[in-house]
Amino acid sequence: MDRIRIVGGQRLTGSIPISGAKNATLPLMIASLLTDETLVLENVPRLADVALLQRILGNHGVDVMVGGKRPGDSEYEGQTLHISAKRIVDTTAPYELVARMRASFWVIAPIVARAGEARVSLPGGCAIGTRPVDMLLMAMRDLGAEIEIDRGYVVARAPHGLKGGEIVFPKVTVGGTHTAVMAAVLADGVTVIDNAACEPEIGDLCACLNKMGAKIAGAGTSRIVVTGVSRLSGAHHRVLPDRIETGTYAMAVTMAGGEVLLEGARAELLQAALDVLVDAGAEVSETNSGVHIARNGVDLAPVEVTTAPFPGFPTDLQAQLMALMTRANGTSHITETIFENRFMHVQELARLGAQVHLEGQTATVAGVPQLKGAPVMATDLRASVSLVIAALAAQGETLVNRVYHLDRGFERLEGKLAACGAEIERLSGF
Ligand code: UD1
Repeated sequence: MDRIRIVGGQRLTGSIPISGAKNATLPLMIASLLTDETLVLENVPRLADVALLQRILGNHGVDVMVGGKRPGDSEYEGQTLHISAKRIVDTTAPYELVARMRASFWVIAPIVARAGEARVSLPGGCAIGTRPVDMLLMAMRDLGAEIEIDRGYVVARAPHGLKGGEIVFPKVTVGGTHTAVMAAVLADGVTVIDNAACEPEIGDLCACLNKMGAKIAGAGTSRIVVTGVSRLSGAHHRVLPDRIETGTYAMAVTMAGGEVLLEGARAELLQAALDVLVDAGAEVSETNSGVHIARNGVDLAPVEVTTAPFPGFPTDLQAQLMALMTRANGTSHITETIFENRFMHVQELARLGAQVHLEGQTATVAGVPQLKGAPVMATDLRASVSLVIAALAAQGETLVNRVYHLDRGFERLEGKLAACGAEIERLSGF
């Protein structure tokens, strides 16, 4: 197992290329199951979760061809995937694969839409709460699917096709909205999805589906209307930039000090988080080539933040913000409202000297003048990168263990930070 070694104290200067969004790539790859033609996705990040989903799709009979680099492509240019689901040869998504990544459960919608039935293992993924799938199944039922749970598998059937219907989510759910949209595009009639998630990744999926011939209106708002069509075709689509990666590096720069251009980033995808960083003392500006972030000399100010669905402050940046606030000049309060158990980073940050007190869903973070490097353990994807952020400002050496969590969602993190002057390296094979 690899580890990452960081020696804190270096300012960050230069530029960091932002990869395509993991959370858009996964549903886009899954949407390929909706057509027998080829879907070409550009700017796909090189991540363990993408490779795992390739295997999962392969199991259903999907061919995935990975395009090589073209002349003139930068070192960090994403991959191009040519995905072709000519025939779905297997409608079962097995436990061994689905348990490793929650988003793979979403194959249930396109497989039922295309093949009339699917058998998908109940999911796994990051251990950040109970994360049920009740709302995803509700959406499938609302469109006429019969659902049964059989020995750890969800069996969904719609032998005569799905039917348009009304879906009202009791709570905003990203996965539920992706599932509802993918179930509705080939359904007979009109589907109205209320209290839909407004995350930019939903907009990206809908934009791609519309290129494939779907009729989706209202993506990016809380009411999405889908008029079913009888078939979809192939399309070319470029994945939007990763707002969570952008926010993570923005926080790294705010923590370490310095000036960095986050190349290809788009501020409107994470305005709430950038506003918080400005309150904390960062300078943020948008240019044609990306988002520029700097902190030069000013103290870090404490902040009050509550996570919320888009356009609110994203739960996927909560751990990173907490790491940043461990060094603020004062006390911050960070409240998590999306997941009930997303504070596993607290005990690891404490190993570096952070002072965080948890009460219910709110963390009170008392800033300290100095963190000290220590061995720490990555517990989930976003929590592990929060340890890297803390380590960048800690005195001495931090060793982050179990970095496979990081590799699920951050492409060549150590390379991108090292190029800006961080003292960071991967130690292989521990
Ligand atoms: C997606 C993101 C994840 C992000 C999360 C919230 C991907 C691959 N993952 O996860 O990075 O942290 O959105 O922005 O895009 N819930 C239920 N029943 C359900 C479904 C969800 O109770 O059937 C609950 C969850 O436990 C959670 C909340 O609803 O408390 C929101 O979850 P959801 O938006 O569905 O998250 P994911 O789609 O799993």
